[in-house]
Order: sequence, then structure tokens, then C-alpha cells
Amino acid sequence: MKIIIEENYEKMSRVAANILLGKMYQQKRVNLAITAGSTPIKMYEYLVSDVKNKSYLDNVHYYNFDEIPFKQKKGYGVTMTNLNNLFFKPAEIPESQIHPLNEKNYKNQDKRIEQDGGLDLILLGIGADGHYCGNLPRTTKFEDLTSYVGEDATENMKEILLSEVGGDENERPDFYVTMGPKSVMQAKEIVLFATGKKKAAIIKRAFFGPVTNEVPASLLQTHPNLTIVLDQEAASEL
Ligand code: GLP
Repeated sequence: MKIIIEENYEKMSRVAANILLGKMYQQKRVNLAITAGSTPIKMYEYLVSDVKNKSYLDNVHYYNFDEIPFKQKKGYGVTMTNLNNLFFKPAEIPESQIHPLNEKNYKNQDKRIEQDGGLDLILLGIGADGHYCGNLPRTTKFEDLTSYVGEDATENMKEILLSEVGGDENERPDFYVTMGPKSVMQAKEIVLFATGKKKAAIIKRAFFGPVTNEVPASLLQTHPNLTIVLDQEAASEL
């Protein structure tokens, strides 16, 4: 496990963007699964200007690793909407390079990625409870592949689904789909990044504590090519 600690959010975001860019400049197809959420906002700002109109990045393919559908709104769910707004649209990434995961195709996700050559890199955020993608403490099993997680999966699942749609009760779905721990561990490289004091305790627990499904991200410690990128606040308990 490699840990990179940067002074602040901007510098941490620049490092994360550079890691992705380092993967992108290759002659062969490159498959990246990338995170939505608030942590990557600055990183995507940097990436948009780095990759926009670069036709030599035509080999780069993008996957989302989870999707939370809106109950009523048609079209993309929370994750793809977020990725479109932050990155795909402003960077003008052609649709042919974007491979959305959703409730219709989740059963094929692992196979599809395998047939495409596997993920070269997956970029993850982490929740303060240790979840990553939609993999939840105690509920998700380390051997789970990409799955459908219903509103009865765990006792606070309805609250989780509500917070994923920004607290809008009209849009609260009754499930989401997510790549599982086993799917994520198949990526050739994992990068997890975190910012701010609210992530400091979980970073310590997940990467310097025991591997346990109480803390889903702790499994990532066992990946042979894991890099953690933190700002000083997220690293403040190490
Ligand atoms: C959501 C996403 C996760 C993400 C997490 C942390 O639950 N499904 O993939 O890692 O939020 O998000 P943030 O970066 O906003 O703290």
C-alpha cells in the first residue's frame, strides 16, 4: 500500500488527476472506473482542461461502479448524472467511451469488464462509515460481485437511499446497484482518495486496523496495487 499525503484539497486533487492521466496516455485500450460524489469535484475540474479535445485519448473507456436510480426522474441515476455534469459533458467525452452501469445491465457488469480486458484502475472515494461504492458495513460480503441492493438489505437502507438522492423523498429509490468487493479487487490498480477531517478516523480504521466487513474498505489493504491519496486533514489521525 502506498500513501500520498498532500498539504490541502487542491494539491490532493491534482495528484489524483495526475495518476489518472498517467494511465490514460497509452497506445492500447485503457479501462477506468471512476467515482462520483463530492471528493472528486476539484479533480474533475483539473481533468476537464487536461483531457478536453485530446483525440489521442480515444482509447480511454470509462465505467461507473454504482448507480442509484431516481424514483421518478427518467434517464440516468445519481451517479451517471453526477459524472456527466462534473466530467463527461464538460470534457466532451464521446458516448462510445462511456459504459453506464444500471439496473438493466448490472448482472453482466463483471463479465462485460472482463471481456473488455479488465479495469486498469478504479478510483474510489470512502464514506465516513467505511463504505466504498455501495458496499456497506456488515451487510456486504467480501465475496459479493456486482449486485442489486434492495431497501431491505440493512436496517438503515431507506435512510441511505434517501441521502443518496439528496434527501428528496419523491425521488427515493428502493434499491441501487453496485460493483461488489470481489469485482473491485479484480482491478489491476486501486486508488482511494479522501479529504477533510470527517474522513480522518475512518482512514485510520480502514487502512491501519483489521480487515473486517465492519469496515468494508479495510479489504482494500489486501490489494497488491493500492494507493491512498489524502490531504493533511484526512491524514490527521495517522
Ligand atoms: C457515495 C458514493 C460512494 C462515495 C461516497 C463518498 O456513497 N456512492 O461511491 O465514495 O458517497 O462520497 P463523498 O466523496 O461525497 O464523500
